Amino acid sequence: MWCFSRLPLRIGHASRRHGDRRFVATVVSGNKTARLVKQRLAQQVEQMQTQFSGFRPGLVVLQVGDRDDSNLYISSKLKAAAEIGINAKHIRLPSCTSEDQVLRAVLALNEDPEVHGLIVQLPLDSEKPMDQELITNAVSPLKDVDGLSCVNAGRLSRGELRDCFLPCTPQGCMELIAQTGVPVSGQNAVVIGRSKIVGAPMHDLLLWNHATVTVCHSRTADLPLQVSRADILVVGMGRAEMVRGEWIKEGAVVIDCGINYVPDPSRSSGKRVVGDVHYASANERAGFLTPVPGGVGPMTVAMLMQNTVISAKRSLQDRTRT
Ligand code: GUN
Repeated sequence: MWCFSRLPLRIGHASRRHGDRRFVATVVSGNKTARLVKQRLAQQVEQMQTQFSGFRPGLVVLQVGDRDDSNLYISSKLKAAAEIGINAKHIRLPSCTSEDQVLRAVLALNEDPEVHGLIVQLPLDSEKPMDQELITNAVSPLKDVDGLSCVNAGRLSRGELRDCFLPCTPQGCMELIAQTGVPVSGQNAVVIGRSKIVGAPMHDLLLWNHATVTVCHSRTADLPLQVSRADILVVGMGRAEMVRGEWIKEGAVVIDCGINYVPDPSRSSGKRVVGDVHYASANERAGFLTPVPGGVGPMTVAMLMQNTVISAKRSLQDRTRT
């Protein structure tokens, strides 16, 4: 069963307006929800520090190479950690590092008692052949706050939600769905995308929260038809503005995990970020809609912090038990 984080914020029922004869979706703000999660975590960390003489949760982000997008994501993780009081460390290995050296770094961090959460930033930006699966699976399941190891993914797929780390993006999506007040149980949920980091675990989380789940992918025969059946739609396919409002069931909850850059000559950067859902047309059909940016993105970071704090708490429980 999904365990909501008891956030006080709950957005009102869809304020669907008829004024100009157009429906308008209620915006589900990830920025606002993430802020509340981080405030709650900061309080918990403060309590841990007081109770366990200066103890702080520790998070390591291990990066191979120097991709611009990864650098950006990592800096937002480090910033969130600093706000909460998590001791976060960024270890960057050069792109010439061998697979063996990366594995050895992971194994050493597994043994470090001050590290409660360890993530390997993906994709790996390596000059040498590297088995991403081997490396993510080398992270101890007890520190795998990304929830990407086979052990954690397997437990999630079997519905053992309390015994695993839930992957951060799907977990953030569930929090955002919870904010709408729309129950998951009994609904038709459609997930677009079957990646290990978003689509597959999203399917599992919705399923074990008793939705009837359809997963669509690049070979799905009639995507608009599948989308039109969704009471809850989660999109993580990595195609800019692919899902059109006309496909969406009126009043549906639409969660957009996409982060795509499209050219925009009106911006000084020459580009802007859009989701996988065409926002303007979806806004006229959906009941609830997440924005991009400011929707799922900040929630992913907040859930990583939450998993790290959970891991740190478990280590304290082990300490007091022994
Ligand atoms: N790259 C993009 N998103 C993620 C994430 O959530 N975790 C890791 N490890 N790498 C990513």
